[in-house]
Amino acid sequence: MRALTWHGEQDVRIDDVPEPEIVNPTDAIIEVTATAICGSDLHLYNGYMPGMREGDVLGHEPMGEVIEVGSEVETLEVGDRVVVPFTISCGSCWFCENELYSLCDNSNPNAEMASTMMGHSPAGLLGFSHMLGGYAGGQAEYLRVPYADVGPITIESDLPDEQVLFLSDIFPTGYMAAENADIEENDTVAVWGCGPVGQFAIQSAWMLGADRVIAIDRVPERLEMAMDHGNAEIIDFENDDVYDRLMDMTGGRGPDRCIDAVGTEAHGTGVTGIADQAKQEARLEDDRPHVLRQAIKCCRKGGTLSVPGVYLGRSDNLPFGSVMNKALTIKTGQTHVQRYLNPLLEQIEDGEIDPSFVITHQVGLEDGPEMYETFNNKDDDCIKVVMTP
Ligand SMILES: NC(=O)c1ccc[n+]([C@@H]2O[C@H](COP(=O)([O-])OP(=O)(O)OC[C@H]3O[C@@H](n4cnc5c(N)ncnc54)[C@H](O)[C@@H]3O)[C@@H](O)[C@H]2O)c1
Ligand SMILES: [Zn+2]
Ligand SMILES: [Zn+2]
Repeated sequence: MRALTWHGEQDVRIDDVPEPEIVNPTDAIIEVTATAICGSDLHLYNGYMPGMREGDVLGHEPMGEVIEVGSEVETLEVGDRVVVPFTISCGSCWFCENELYSLCDNSNPNAEMASTMMGHSPAGLLGFSHMLGGYAGGQAEYLRVPYADVGPITIESDLPDEQVLFLSDIFPTGYMAAENADIEENDTVAVWGCGPVGQFAIQSAWMLGADRVIAIDRVPERLEMAMDHGNAEIIDFENDDVYDRLMDMTGGRGPDRCIDAVGTEAHGTGVTGIADQAKQEARLEDDRPHVLRQAIKCCRKGGTLSVPGVYLGRSDNLPFGSVMNKALTIKTGQTHVQRYLNPLLEQIEDGEIDPSFVITHQVGLEDGPEMYETFNNKDDDCIKVVMTP
């Protein structure tokens, strides 16, 4: 079958690879009908994620039709139309029972690699390095879905793929980001990053009762989407000092809730920005935590910092003294996708939200390599790419 594969820094190819097979009786195989490229894929594309190997199949935002089920699968049948979460979760460990699906204790066969680095291993993730399981991803014609009774959600209605596909990741991710921000009545929420995750964080901040939403980026069409579709006030960080602007806009108090929807590849300014870049290239620092530092500085005293943006390892010069003395709360994590599938599908079915608004490019799988480049460079006003195998 054809699949998008990783071959090193900025080298994604379309290859012929063996079709997936049922490995465990709890697996299912789906024929992929739609699959997207995520900002997280860019961390692999740009060579920052450890544990990648040549030929790894990419992709963690897939949906499709079930074509085969293992002997122990109870909830799915051949022919079902499903969206597959990127988090692989067993459904029965302590973490899954507590709905902390991205922390599943059983789904990462390479747990040792991850716990050596982090102290414990999070869940395995689809198409996201050998450190997080070495699972083949969903930017392919077919996909093996482990723990098929726990992950996928069946779509009974005839909503098109484009409207439900993002239940696999970015809609729940934006929603959990807003939930983690502990938004209360009259709160001002600042969102760094107007990529797809930022856009869903903005939508979700309103759903959870924000009074004002301020969005920060420098890419004109993304800021425009945040403003027009997201009703956010905007700050272009290239033309404005973010701290000064936020203080102006909030009477010197700072935003009550800050969401970092940028993560490890933040564009930094000033001396620390240059230092992060150099240290990351030299492998002396794993992340470029520019936004994290800025959000800590800007957040109002006693406020909350929610971090859906992915960080990979060590960050330098994080002002933890400010976190402590300003009594900030920080919440983060890979999304517990399974927790949000039903409630968010309901929102889509009720017409409360149509997640397809972020899509700018719809192409075939064979255009994937080019689309990685376009999305990474933010060329051609690209915000979100959906591919049909
Ligand atoms: N927690 C999770 O489960 C989860 C799930 C999906 C994605 N993510 C992560 O969320 C982040 C965003 O994903 P995405 O798909 O929206 O990616 P994206 O790359 O499309 O968007 C990132 C945006 O951040 C902007 N940006 C860069 N530097 C900035 C700065 N200094 N200030 C403000 N904005 C800045 C960029 O211009 C870009 O528009 C990534 O780190 C991704 O890995 C996390
Ligand atoms: Zn993702
Ligand atoms: Zn589990």
